[in-house]
Amino acid sequence: MQGTFYVVGVGPGDPELLTLKAARILEKCDVWFAPSAFKHGDSMALKIVSGEVSTKGKKILTHYFPMKLVHRGKDPDPEVTAAWQEAAEIIVGHLRAGKDVVFPTLGDPAIYSTGYYVCETLQKNSADIKIEIIPGVSAIGASSAAAGLPLCLGDERLVVIPATFENGAMRDVLAQSDTVVFMKVHKVMPKIVKLLDELDLLDQAVLVERCSLGDQKIWTNIRDAVDKEIHYFSTIIVRRH
Ligand SMILES: C[S@@+](CC[C@H](N)C(=O)[O-])C[C@H]1O[C@@H](n2cnc3c(N)ncnc32)[C@H](O)[C@@H]1O
Repeated sequence: MQGTFYVVGVGPGDPELLTLKAARILEKCDVWFAPSAFKHGDSMALKIVSGEVSTKGKKILTHYFPMKLVHRGKDPDPEVTAAWQEAAEIIVGHLRAGKDVVFPTLGDPAIYSTGYYVCETLQKNSADIKIEIIPGVSAIGASSAAAGLPLCLGDERLVVIPATFENGAMRDVLAQSDTVVFMKVHKVMPKIVKLLDELDLLDQAVLVERCSLGDQKIWTNIRDAVDKEIHYFSTIIVRRH
């Protein structure tokens, strides 16, 4: 019988934020296929889960996915599609051999996760693949909790955007929303700080760096972070009220 492909959200870093279901699926799968942003194969998602669930007897694979911008509706960079395609081929091989394969992904799979691109590629190649998505604690909720800030109450509107968006789009979103969560901020801090300053929103912004990890840092004055090398695991919440 063909195996099932599971995409499992593993939370933002603290292994205690791994769900019971995520742990159970990881325990039952023969093959762990973990994404890596590095050619040498380090995987943050794998690090989070392997502290909590035994890797004994598991086939552990890491796969390099280049971190390049993907604009939905446009053709992605060929290096990116090649990585999705290669991943899908390896995964299908294990599924056809009757193995269950789990793809641990940072935070929640629904939010900017490579897991969904791999699912789309799998489904395009082979329509009969069985896929299950297991939600996880997103860095969005975890950062909100760490900062002690709600994301939306009553009739407020919340928008999540990658900070790599063009300035015009970010300006419009900030004008129309009560709360904006910026992800992928680490390389564009000067641009965000400048924009928030222009809109007089700097004092409404909080930066949560390495949320839920031992060295978590909360920047209540994000001007201080503008010339610092902040970690990729950084999220900004701008709450108007
Ligand atoms: C590719 S997205 C993945 C988001 C993930 N699927 C989620 O639900 O949290 C990566 C971005 O998530 C945010 N992020 C992930 N882990 C984080 C953490 N521990 N602390 C703060 N932000 C984090 C950062 O904005 C980072 O640039």
